Formats: sequence, C-alpha cells, structure tokens
Amino acid sequence: MAKLCIIFMLVILTAAVPATEGLKKGPKAVEKWFKKLPQAKEKLSKLHFYFHDAVSGKNPTAVKVAESKITSQAPTFFGIVSIADDPLTVGPESDSKIIGRAQGMYCMASLEELGLLMTFNLVFTDGEYNGSTLSVLGHNPIFHEYREMPIVGGSGIFRLARGIATAKTVWHNFTSKDAVVEYTVMVLHY
Ligand SMILES: *[C@@H]1O[C@H](CO)[C@@H](O)[C@H](O)[C@H]1NC(C)=O
Ligand SMILES: *[C@@H]1O[C@H](CO)[C@@H](O)[C@H](O)[C@H]1NC(C)=O
Repeated sequence: MAKLCIIFMLVILTAAVPATEGLKKGPKAVEKWFKKLPQAKEKLSKLHFYFHDAVSGKNPTAVKVAESKITSQAPTFFGIVSIADDPLTVGPESDSKIIGRAQGMYCMASLEELGLLMTFNLVFTDGEYNGSTLSVLGHNPIFHEYREMPIVGGSGIFRLARGIATAKTVWHNFTSKDAVVEYTVMVLHY
C-alpha cells in the first residue's frame, strides 16, 4: 500500500512539472541529450511574434555604432552598423506582452538597394521557450513585402535548430525610422 502511495505521488509530481522545467542545461545535461540524439525525433515548431525596432525617442532599442566615410553620400546608407536589443511581443501594439528580445547587429550591407545583413539572436524570456535562443543570419531587403532569413542554430529547446524566419513590416515611420515587423518562424530542432 505504501509503495503504491509513493508511486502515485511520483506520478502526480512528474505531471505537475511543466515540460520546460525538464530542460536541463550544463555540460552533463547536454552530453546526455547528445547521446540520445541518434534515437531522437526531429520536431517542427512554428513561432509568431512582432519585432519592435525603436531608433528614435528617449529610449531607443537600436543604436547606430558606426558608419563609413561614404555612408552620407550613399543612397542606401551603405556602411551603417547598428546594435539592437529589440523587444519581441505577442501582438503588434507597443504595450503588447513581451516574450523575448532580438539582440544583435544589423548592417547596411547593400550598395544597390536598402538591404541589411541581420546577425542576431532571438532570446526567449517567456513561456515554453523561456531560456532558449535561435540564431538568425540573413539578408533583409527591408522594402520587400516578405523577407526570408535563415535560422542557423539555436540553444535550449532549439538545440541544432535550422529553419526560416519570414519578416513582413506592419508599420514603419519614414521620419523616425521606427518599425514594427511581423515574424513567422518555422524551425526544425531536436
Ligand atoms: C524565465 O526563466 C527564468 C530563468 O529560469 C526565470 O527566472 C523567469 O521567471 C522565467 N520567466 C517567465 C516569465 O516564466
Ligand atoms: C513619425 O516620427 C516623427 C519623428 O519622430 C513623429 O514626429 C511622428 O509623429 C511619427 N508619426 C507617427 C504616425 O507616429
């Protein structure tokens, strides 16, 4: 009877722990995960969020850190390097719930049209992806309706991730250069 009771309690305890808390970090945990990899099934996750790039105002989330001697004459702002820590939210509104940040760098890397080199990490801070990251490295011609950027890796839940992020601008202020961009991310991971 006592044995049965203990088993029953263990079942309840295991059920009460959300899946994310089961994600262990550190070298031992990663080694264990790695050893199970040959039997592991690849998962497909779809994420949807809004990216808020605030260049202007008192609290910008993206700042220009460098430009070249020719940037001021270049119609495409060629040579600008900016660092961003942009909030990622559930909805397009500025006060929408934050689920993570896009931290990294974008550069004006095109002479012909406005085209950015995006190198940043999506750092999730809420919900099932809290503590996990995805790394984006891609070409972002910001005036195209849809842009596709490769997901080249990830951590936590997204270990060994690869996938595609699509970006679509939902709002852009030409004067302040502030923008809100809708992101849909499709990612394979283990
Ligand atoms: C996300 O995870 C961190 C670290 O484990 C924790 O401190 C924080 O409360 C979590 N945030 C949410 C919103 O669950
Ligand atoms: C666009 O930005 C400018 C300059 O910061 C500001 O004066 C204007 O109100 C903004 N427009 C909208 C629609 O928010």
